[in-house]
Amino acid sequence: MNFIHKNGVQIISTGSCLPKVKVSNKDLSYIVGTSDDWITTRTGIQERRVISQDESLLSLSCEASLIAIKRAKLIPSDLDLIILATSTADDLFGTASKIQAEIEANNAAAFDITAACSGFLIAFITASQFLMTGAYKNILIVGADTLSKWVDWSDRKTCILFGDGAGAMIIQASNQYNNLIDFDIKTNGKKNHFLNINSLQNSTGITLSDLSMNKMSYDYISMNGQEVYKFAISQIPEIISNCLKSNKLTTDEVDWLLLHQANERILKTISEKLNISQSKVLKNLNLYGNTSAASIPIMLDEAISSKLIKTGDLIVMSGFGAGLTWGVALIRWQ
Ligand code: UT7
Repeated sequence: MNFIHKNGVQIISTGSCLPKVKVSNKDLSYIVGTSDDWITTRTGIQERRVISQDESLLSLSCEASLIAIKRAKLIPSDLDLIILATSTADDLFGTASKIQAEIEANNAAAFDITAACSGFLIAFITASQFLMTGAYKNILIVGADTLSKWVDWSDRKTCILFGDGAGAMIIQASNQYNNLIDFDIKTNGKKNHFLNINSLQNSTGITLSDLSMNKMSYDYISMNGQEVYKFAISQIPEIISNCLKSNKLTTDEVDWLLLHQANERILKTISEKLNISQSKVLKNLNLYGNTSAASIPIMLDEAISSKLIKTGDLIVMSGFGAGLTWGVALIRWQ
């Protein structure tokens, strides 16, 4: 993709926050017809975190954000913009403004982006445009989801997959560095029905001439696992290899595959199709399951904290999920 930019995009810091309660595969076997063996073999997930009464999407997001802000040696009032990627906002009107208030980022505009498991990638690319044009200097991006509130805990096909969490990143406009080499995002709305949280119309019993007044609520997550699986292992290798090629980069030059943590088999198949060694695939889904928009920033935060990622490394970040949406960002670490 050719884009003109005034400034480069520099990733300054990351942070993450996970709920304190762990739910193991064995725990799940007491509530649905499943087993540790089935879940581990089919998904690679061993446990996930689930929020308790005293935790929320907002509390996890604020905690992750404050860690990232501190590590960036900034104060909240330095932020110009906050973008929250989530599909499980505490408030249907959005939760980004609540983060803004809670952390006292009084100079920041704030809004949500809903793009399921591609949400963080899309928020990162969106935020980068504001930096490249010179509109803003400091942006906080948060990827957070609490899908535990939306899964049907009696549906073994979905409840075993998801976990809650939040990850944050501070990016800054720079005239010295540019970490974002290129990106691409795609959508296929014709496959939207493969992964949804559908709305439900509930009659209030109030009518006005021909109108029957309804109140909206939402159903549980519904998913065609096999179709989502096929979509991920076909589209992700393709978008990654095309993006690398158009930047005259080869898969040999890739240091890290930072993929949405959906399923270990998906990660393995994508890396095999790209001919990228398993040792370059960043993975923590065994501990947290699929945390949707939070999975990429949590993984990145852990990889940076454990000093896996080094200056000069080429990172391929790729998200995919409901929409269906998917995308890639090529990052040169500095
Ligand atoms: O962010 C994107 C989010 N979505 C995804 O990443 C989902 C992608 N898809 C997948 O990861 C996989 O399709 C699943 C892990 C969801 C399912 O794995 P699968 O290998 O596609 O299993 P399946 O749906 O074909 O089910 C195989 C069998 C079925 O039994 P029968 O019909 O063969 O007797 C299921 O009823 O496994 C059964 N099954 C289970 N058994 C024990 C399904 N879920 C479970 C379970 N425990 N939790």
